[in-house]
Amino acid sequence: MERRPVRILAVESSCDDTGVAVLEDFSVRSNIIASQEIHARYGGVVPELAGRAHVVHLVPTWDAALEAAGLRAEDIDAVACTRGPGLQGSLTVGFAFAKAWAWSRSLPFVPVNHLHAHIWSHFLEPGPAPAFPFLCLLVSGGHTLLVEVRGPGQLKTVATTLDDAVGEAFDKVAKLLGLPYPGGPEVERAAAGGDPTFLSLTRTRLQDGNFSFSGLKTQVLHALQRGMAADPKFIERHRSDVCASVQAALVDVLVDRVVREVETSGIQVIALAGGVSANTALRERMLQLGALHGWQVHIPPMSYCTDNAAMVGAAARMVYPPENPSPWGLGPDPRMPF
Ligand code: KG4
Ligand code: ZN
Repeated sequence: MERRPVRILAVESSCDDTGVAVLEDFSVRSNIIASQEIHARYGGVVPELAGRAHVVHLVPTWDAALEAAGLRAEDIDAVACTRGPGLQGSLTVGFAFAKAWAWSRSLPFVPVNHLHAHIWSHFLEPGPAPAFPFLCLLVSGGHTLLVEVRGPGQLKTVATTLDDAVGEAFDKVAKLLGLPYPGGPEVERAAAGGDPTFLSLTRTRLQDGNFSFSGLKTQVLHALQRGMAADPKFIERHRSDVCASVQAALVDVLVDRVVREVETSGIQVIALAGGVSANTALRERMLQLGALHGWQVHIPPMSYCTDNAAMVGAAARMVYPPENPSPWGLGPDPRMPF
């Protein structure tokens, strides 16, 4: 007899997007995201406001996800939710509601690590999913990780950042240039038509193989200070050139580290994940390298790069049914380790 697919309702509320998705196994029946516009005027996410906005958005988003999936609450087999890492208040809203909903319906509850979810987004249909083992470059607003993925529960960090995450570097440079938050897409847009050699920025390559991005922000700050002293319209005139230079430097550092890992590990399957994987320059460089060397490069669709609940569902499905049920007393973990 054919097995009925497992229907998972998944929730993501680790930062400023309220996401609810419904999956049938790895097929996405719906994936709804309510973004919070309120943070733009503060130039970054305000944790307290994010938590409050989740309270407002969660139930309508939940209902919309069920409706878009054409399913009723009774059709759901399990509930998954991001447990961490993320903002305490934001996580608490999603986690408490999702857990209570699961508990009231006697459904299994699956807590999910947000970073693992970015990786498992590659298993959402239509795929193709990367074959094990693969290297995942996980680049988001809070993390920059290169991970060797051998299977569910078999994730080994081979490089991490010692200071800023690469998304944070994009965001901080955007702020210096007076561009709105989130800065990554703004820097990418402004970089189009700019001269990537305008600033000569250091490509930091640490001996221990880890990443470091905080120096780049300081270099840009000093270049802007020098430029503005000579020409008060420097930023206006050279915004594109600065953005192109920054983007080129960040992409070079990421790609260089991936290439070294492919060479040392012999693993030729590579996946990009996290918000910065939406960056076209990074996507294209990785695809070109893949074509050149015969490596398999997996790039997520744009909708699965930034935070979403479908990836949380995918992570839950990877471990479903869980070996042990999650204790009902479990809480969110803002500093949940990778
Ligand atoms: O994964 P994500 O949505 O949230 C976190 O878990 O952090 O990543 C957000 C980060 C932000 O720093 C944002 O500026 C960056 O991803 N980002 C980009 C692009 N789109 C989003 N960075 C560079 N280029 C982009 N197109
Ligand atoms: Zn994320």
